Formats: sequence, structure tokens, C-alpha cells
Amino acid sequence: MPIFADKMTELPISSVLSLSAVSVPPSVKCLQFSQDGQVILLTKYAVHILTPDTGVSVERSSVIKQDSSKLPSGSTHPLGWLRTMVEFDRSLAHQWPNDSKEWGAVSLGSLDPSLHAVALSPSNLTADAGCVLALLNSNLELTIWGASKNLLTGEWIRLQDVTSALETASAAKDPLLAVKNVLRNQSTCIAWSSQPQWGEPMPPVEASSLAVGNRAGSVTFLRYDKTEKQMSVLKETQVADRWVSHLAWSAWNVPQDDTCEAMLACGSSDGSIAILTVRQTLNPKPTLTNISPDHALSLSIQLDDEKISGSDGRAITGLQWANPPGRSAILIYHKPGVIHLWSAPSSEAAWSGSRAFALRTQRRSVGSSALSPASGISYVPSCDMAVVSLSDGSFYVIHKLSVDPTLYPPPTEPIQPDALSAASRSVFVRAESKASFKDVDRIHGAATYDGGSTFMWTYEASRPTDFSYKHDAKHISTFVVAQLWEEDVDERVLYDLAERVGHARSVSGEAPISILRPVLLHLREPSRIARLHPRILDILHRQPFNGVDATIAVPTYSGDWTTELSCELRRSLTTQLFGWGSIQSQRMRYTVAVFCQKYAEAADIQQKFADAANLFLANIRSHVQMVLIRHLSAISGAISRSAYDISFARRTIRQATTASEAAPALAKEADTLLAQLSSAPQPGPPDAQISAASPAAELAPIQDGHSMDELCPACNGVVPLQSMDAEGAVCTNGHVWARCCVTSFLLATPMVRTCIGCSRKALLPPPVPARAAPGPSSSGDANGSVDRPASQVGDSQAPPAHSPYPRAGMGGSYNSARFVQDLLDATQRCPFCGNNFVVLV
Ligand SMILES: *[C@@H]1O[C@H](CO)[C@@H](O)[C@H](O)[C@H]1NC(C)=O
Ligand SMILES: *[C@@H]1O[C@H](CO)[C@@H](O)[C@H](O)[C@H]1NC(C)=O
Ligand SMILES: *[C@@H]1O[C@H](CO)[C@@H](O)[C@H](O)[C@H]1NC(C)=O
Ligand SMILES: [Zn+2]
Ligand SMILES: [Zn+2]
Repeated sequence: MPIFADKMTELPISSVLSLSAVSVPPSVKCLQFSQDGQVILLTKYAVHILTPDTGVSVERSSVIKQDSSKLPSGSTHPLGWLRTMVEFDRSLAHQWPNDSKEWGAVSLGSLDPSLHAVALSPSNLTADAGCVLALLNSNLELTIWGASKNLLTGEWIRLQDVTSALETASAAKDPLLAVKNVLRNQSTCIAWSSQPQWGEPMPPVEASSLAVGNRAGSVTFLRYDKTEKQMSVLKETQVADRWVSHLAWSAWNVPQDDTCEAMLACGSSDGSIAILTVRQTLNPKPTLTNISPDHALSLSIQLDDEKISGSDGRAITGLQWANPPGRSAILIYHKPGVIHLWSAPSSEAAWSGSRAFALRTQRRSVGSSALSPASGISYVPSCDMAVVSLSDGSFYVIHKLSVDPTLYPPPTEPIQPDALSAASRSVFVRAESKASFKDVDRIHGAATYDGGSTFMWTYEASRPTDFSYKHDAKHISTFVVAQLWEEDVDERVLYDLAERVGHARSVSGEAPISILRPVLLHLREPSRIARLHPRILDILHRQPFNGVDATIAVPTYSGDWTTELSCELRRSLTTQLFGWGSIQSQRMRYTVAVFCQKYAEAADIQQKFADAANLFLANIRSHVQMVLIRHLSAISGAISRSAYDISFARRTIRQATTASEAAPALAKEADTLLAQLSSAPQPGPPDAQISAASPAAELAPIQDGHSMDELCPACNGVVPLQSMDAEGAVCTNGHVWARCCVTSFLLATPMVRTCIGCSRKALLPPPVPARAAPGPSSSGDANGSVDRPASQVGDSQAPPAHSPYPRAGMGGSYNSARFVQDLLDATQRCPFCGNNFVVLV
């Protein structure tokens, strides 16, 4: 042991944050990463939402920085954190005794209401392409939450009291069985599935599902509706005759193009576990304009006859799937003293069936006990091992998980059974600076931070033998990020980078800063970039980009502009802009190149990364322009009926034809579009007075360079539209403006969104959803967010009634171009780096 302890002191610690928070009982899900790249930590009265600042370029002044001199010894390159939280107000919406006086319906958790469980949706779920949080409290009530304007530091708001939705769903079912119905609306556990990876371009259909277990022994499947901001019930299935206590989803398999399958493990309060096989099928749905295919999903659920664990009365404390590549998923579950594994019978897997491993206590403090509940289950693919932590601060490692699982490997194995416990204990001793055998580090939640040896966990220090000891009463939870075993980080960074940028088919909705977290964490070290830069550049330049031009298919539509057209146009734009893995890959390469440029110390290395970044940026830009040209072209009939739409089309053509890096194919299609528009009859009164703000001015022939220019909002001087500086603009008098990264209009308004990755800015999308009725409608939305004119579908020639934007050149008319509105609405992520937008101020 001492040998390990000495060696471990060398392992780096990246963060030690003290939070004044009361921990929830240990659980494998109370500390996890969201697909937006945020750490979600569940405590008794709040959910802490912590974002590591790696790759985040906004809100730099709010970053909590740790002084490395104040961190424990061995700390290197401390991570900075942005934080916000959801506080639990402890008010209860449901008085169960009013519904049923039966003893079984009483919820003891209502005496001291606290938070009980959290489940995270996949990302790209909400209207602004973020995650939804589901929260369960001790009164068995379920709510969902989402970020309102700024997921990093802003407020998260309650979107729905889901319990009420469950009530209406079950009310319809069994009007006679009052107690049973109440038990059915009492939620006991939650788990949100991932999103299946369909073919390309990813069909825009929401396929993740929140499974909710209840006291009546059934599981309800719910789906989030983006426009309603609510969950709706899909199905309910009976799995047991007592409380469902734990739920865990495997990843989805896609055995056929239109079918996906996952397993849902359902643990009950008697220790038994049943498996549900959940299957979804994509069915094409007819559309009115044909612009974009639409799909409906059908869901079927099958309960496997055999329970994988019997009713032995031993409580399950943790349940989670590992999804090793190339084999069926493995269920890992913990009951006091034993780690169990199970894998469905399969011909291609090296093993299947059940395995059990008895745990031996690892003595590190007076609190050590192998019978403690589980506080974390992680699978580390690069080592094919599962890491299980218990609340007594110990870690257990199952080696060769996918081929031949063992808990006690031969002594030749570099990671020995108690090595991780020793490492974690050494972090505790260093962080607390005076800890002895009497000090217990109770771990409440633990998970891998980078998919490898860097872990995050929260501990609370206590001294159970010392009754006058203060620490416990003050309830300080310490959040730690540290490495737990030696590994060749250089090689793993290169491997992870190649994996993440190399797989073209990797569109999942996960934000690039989240996918790249393991890489960016370690590339913060300038010395590593200095060592590895030729190999990093080599990986970034691998598989040269050929574009997906040939496959961007947008059927022609010759009708008028209708609400359906807008709706399908938006869907098609989103799909083509964000649904291609190869474009996401360019976005990630761009992110890594910019990141390395920033962290590299030598000027020549910085320059190489800057050149690489420019190349990827040009590839992304030409894809975006191609998507725009193809769509404008497909609906050129409708476009040519509005002067505003024509002027936007002309700007787009101009940018596509003059960019120095413009692909010849792109320029050619742009020219064809120009010819299409010129041959169409021109709308509007041709002799209208020419003024900078009128549409007529924008109809001037494209050869006249100034017709594309905007006027400076400060001095009315000309701001030339130069494609080369499409991201910034300077007027003839030297005023500098930012351009919208989606439309390239000048941003003469503070009402913008900012990309958290690259800090490019964009105009806000129109607040009224696509299904709004044609014609002018009231402005502002129900949430009281920014007051902006509603979309003016069907009334495009009328100037905006009360635009908050100055009418600077064409910038003022953008909200009259229907295409622009749909484009802004369709672009919920940054088109360049693919990350989320936030609204600052
Ligand atoms: C429950 O019943 C009590 C008294 O019977 C009443 O005061 C309370 O308002 C009821 N609560 C709800 C939510 O109906
Ligand atoms: C629970 O379900 C029953 C029947 O489905 C319904 O009448 C009742 O209002 C629900 N709500 C509560 C709080 O029990
Ligand atoms: C986000 O979801 C939309 C559908 O709502 C889809 O078209 C788009 O491709 C998704 N984006 C990513 C990056 O997965
Ligand atoms: Zn000016
Ligand atoms: Zn960006």
C-alpha cells in the first residue's frame, strides 16, 4: 500500500472545489456529464450545474479560477468553472393523502422534502438545441427543467410538472382502482435514453424517451415535445408487482435503417431485475410540399420472460449498462458486497449470462466497508474495464469486462485492485492536508471525466468517532477532478482525437465541446502541444474533405409561400446544415485547431494551427453556402415573389461567387440561381423611390457592387459586403460592426445570441414557432422573453411594424425576408463550430 501511496502523490489533480451543499445519499447517477458538456451534481436541495471552461470562449469574467498555489500538491493546470444551479424550493404540488387515505399511498419523503434523483436528456432536444433535466423529489413528484437564455450561468426554469401529466394519463385508465392510480402517479425512479444514430443525414425526429418507474410496479415512457416544452406519455408497461426502484437504458442498436432497439433494465424494491426490449420504427409521413421528408416513430415494448436477478430481497444500490464496441451491452449492478454482471445471450460476444464478484473491504479509514452502497459505475473503453466506486471511498476495477471479466487480475496487470482507492485517498489526504485514519471520505458520486484515467467525484469528510467534530454539520461537499492511474496520456489524446474527428457518421446531437472534452482537457498543456503538434496536425488533415454536395437533395417546390413551406424549409435547412457527420467532423477539427493555436507557445506552431483552422472554416462555409443556394434554388418561384427574399438570395449568391476559396461547383450553382431569379417577374413597384432602406434599392442589378452594401447605423456611411471578412464589417468612417454568423447582416442590436465555443454572434430566431397562423400576430412569447416582431408569413411586403432594429441598409429588412426568418429559426447551433448559443446581458 505505501508503495502505491507514494507513487500516487505524483498523479495530477485538476480541480478541488468546495460547495456548501448537503449530499444526497450515494448514487451512481448523482454526478454526471450532460451532452452539452456540463457537470450535473445532484444535492439535497439544489442541482449544481458546473461547466469546465475548456473550449468555452464566452463569460470568461465569470469563470471560477483556482489558484494552483492554493491547490493541493501535484495540481497542474487547474480547470476553470462556470456555474449555475436549480434550487429546490421545497414546496410540494401534490398532497397524496388527499387522493387516497391508504397507508400504501403515503409518502414519507413529504416530511423533509428534498431532491431524490436526476435524469438528463440527450442534447439538441429543446428549441435552442440544449438538454432537459428531469428531477424527482422525495415526495415522488417529477418535474422537467431547461435553460432559459444562458445554460452556463443563467437561470434554468421549470418547464412542466410532469406528475400532473401522468395523472391525466392514468386517470383515463382505471377509474375504479383509486389506490392503484395514486401509486401509479407516484414516480420512484427515472432514466432518459440516448438518441439512436440513424443514417445520414440524420432524420430530424426526436427518438429519446424518459422512462419513469412508479410505486405500482409499472414503467411509463414519455417523450419531450419541443414546441409545447412538455412531456407526453407514449406508453405504460407493467414490470413488477412492487415499486420499481432503479432504471437503466442501454445504448440503441440500429439493426436496420429504420429500426432501433435498446434494453431497459428495471430493478424492483425486492432486488429483482427485469429487462424490457424497446423497439422503435421510423415510418415516413406524407408532407405537403415534399421539400423535406418527415417521419413518425412507432414504439413497441417487450418484457423478457426471465428475470435476470431473482427476488432475493437484497437492495440494488446501482444499475448501469456498459456498451463496449462490437458486442452486446453489459449490465453492471451492485448489491451490498457484490458486483453483478449480466449480458444477453449472443453468439458474437465472448461471454454472456451472469457473473458475480464478491468485494473485500479495503481498509483506508475507520469508515471502510465493502458493504457500502455504490456511488459510481464507469466503463473505460481504452482499458476495457469497469470502475465501480462505493460510498466508503473505495474503488473496484473489473478488468477485461467485454471478454473475460475478473476482479482480481494477475499481479502483472498494471492496475491492481486497490490502486484506485489508494489514489483517491491520496487526493483526499492532500486536499484536506491533515487527514488521518479516523477521517472518512464518503464518496457520493463518481464518474470518469475523460473516458479514461481522469475521474471526477464528490466527497464529504467526516469523523464518525469524534462527536465534537464540526465538519459534518457544516456540510461541505468537495468536488474533485484528478487522475487515478498512470497512463500514457499523449497516446490516448491522439487516439481519442482520431476517433472523434475520424468517424464521419457521428452525428448524435452531442455538442462538440462535450465530444472533445477528453482531448481539450489534456491539450491545455503547452508542452504537450509542443511535443505532439505534427501528429495532431496529421490527424486533423487526415481524410480530406470532399463535401456532401452530391447528396444535398432538395426537391423543387413551385407553389406559393405557405406556413407548411416555412415549416418544411426549416426542417430541411436544419437537417442539411447539422445532420451530416462529415461536416460535424470539420467543425470539431476547426475547434481543435483554434484551441491548439491558443494554447501553443511557439509562433510557428500557432501559425500552423491557424492555417489549419482557416482551411476547415472554408470547408464549413462552403457547405453552408451550398445548402443555402440549393434551398433558394429549390423554392426560387416563391423567393422571386418577394423583394426581401430576392435581396437575401442575391447577397448569398454574391458571397458564394466572390469568396476566394469558393469552390467552382458552388459558384456555378450560384450563377444558375441568379439566372433563375433574373428571369422571374420582379415584384413590387419598379419605380419606387430609391432609398437605402427600400426593397427597390436592393433589387438593383447584382453587377452594381454597392447594392449589396449596408449602411452604417452610426453614420450612415457605406459598409461594403466583402466576403473575405464576412464575420466583421467596417464602414467608410471606420466604425466596426459584427456580422450575424447565420445571415451575415450587420449586428446593430444588443439582442443577439452568442456561440459559447467560438463567440460568433447571430440574430435571435423569430419567437413564434413555425406552426403560427399566417398573417401578423402578436409579438413576444409566453415566457416574456425578448419582444420581437412575429414572423410575417404571407405579408412579406409590409415593412416591419415595430422593429427594435435600426433600419440600416438591408439589415433592417431582414425580418421581412421569410427565408431569413426560417434560416434563423433552423440554425439553433453555431454553423461554424456547432456549439450552443447563449443570450448574454
Ligand atoms: C388536502 O386536504 C386538506 C384538508 O383535507 C386541505 O386543506 C388541502 O387544501 C388539500 N390539498 C389539496 C392539494 O387538495
Ligand atoms: C392520481 O390518479 C388518480 C386517478 O388516475 C387521479 O384521480 C388523481 O387526481 C391523481 N392525482 C393525485 C395527486 O393523486
Ligand atoms: C439537432 O436536431 C435536429 C432536429 O431537430 C436535427 O436536424 C439536427 O441534425 C440535430 N443536430 C445535431 C448536431 O445533431
Ligand atoms: Zn460608420
Ligand atoms: Zn461557434
